[in-house]
Amino acid sequence: MKPNEPSRTALIPARQRAAHQLLDHGAILDDPFAIKILGEDEKDVLRFANAHPLASVGRLLSAARSRIAEDALSAAVERGVRQVVVLGAGLDTFALRNPHAARPIRVYEVDHPATQAWKRQRLAEAQIALPPWLIFAPVDFERDDLGEKLAGAGFQPNAPAFFTWLGVVPYLTREAIDATLDFMASIPNAEVVFDDMEPSEAFSGEMRKLVTERSEQQEKTAERWASRLDPSDVAAILRAHGFCDIEDIDYQRIASRFGGAVHGLASGQAGVHVVHARRRDEREV
Ligand SMILES: C[S@@+](CC[C@H](N)C(=O)[O-])C[C@H]1O[C@@H](n2cnc3c(N)ncnc32)[C@H](O)[C@@H]1O
Repeated sequence: MKPNEPSRTALIPARQRAAHQLLDHGAILDDPFAIKILGEDEKDVLRFANAHPLASVGRLLSAARSRIAEDALSAAVERGVRQVVVLGAGLDTFALRNPHAARPIRVYEVDHPATQAWKRQRLAEAQIALPPWLIFAPVDFERDDLGEKLAGAGFQPNAPAFFTWLGVVPYLTREAIDATLDFMASIPNAEVVFDDMEPSEAFSGEMRKLVTERSEQQEKTAERWASRLDPSDVAAILRAHGFCDIEDIDYQRIASRFGGAVHGLASGQAGVHVVHARRRDEREV
């Protein structure tokens, strides 16, 4: 990413979540802020959603990964976890929708400084009030020390935390992925949900063509897919960081669980995964 420019890719899942409200009635992820935070006309959102038949796949993935993360987060909150860290938050609205507001949870939104400044401006323009449990922490994963920045924002490194890391891993270098996991591994009973991408060969016909075109377009920009990971490598990386409970949900499982809720879902195979992993340290929560 360019140091002073907000993420352009953050608009894509935000539009997909907005389109999911309009076309699929929020059946996977009910998000009353999705359209408002985006600040675009509904007809433009629909034009984006109908621009390509495979946009339906993106819509499924954006809604499903948030739903999987938020379901796992609810279980963690039931077990007593009170710190939530949304890594690379973009226009994610979990903090605004927080269903656990009756409990003293804190939601740390971490993002590239330029993207976070843009989001704060979007929130102000949309006249969306900031909830008291939301704390912003600007961090560049490629340059900054995540632990230091979070501690500076009030995060307690000795208490358990749940991390969501959605739509971010493919954009990071292996060094930044490892550094982020190193930090998570230092937190007792850390738990994370993230998504990652395999190399293009794991996508079928039309999808492979689209992913290859996107990848070529991105090469001309400052935001590009830097890491394509094989599922067995992902499991090995997580185990090396002390994560033991690892659930890797592939596209087929995502489509069979949630695909029926997506209007006109295109067929095909995508090499994308949503991964849920948890450490079990001595002090169980
Ligand atoms: C595709 S968007 C996903 C946003 C959000 N998680 C969602 O699902 O809507 C990628 C996000 O990763 C963030 N990101 C990418 N590279 C980053 C870096 N080096 N440091 C911090 N954030 C980064 C961008 O600012 C952006 O918010």
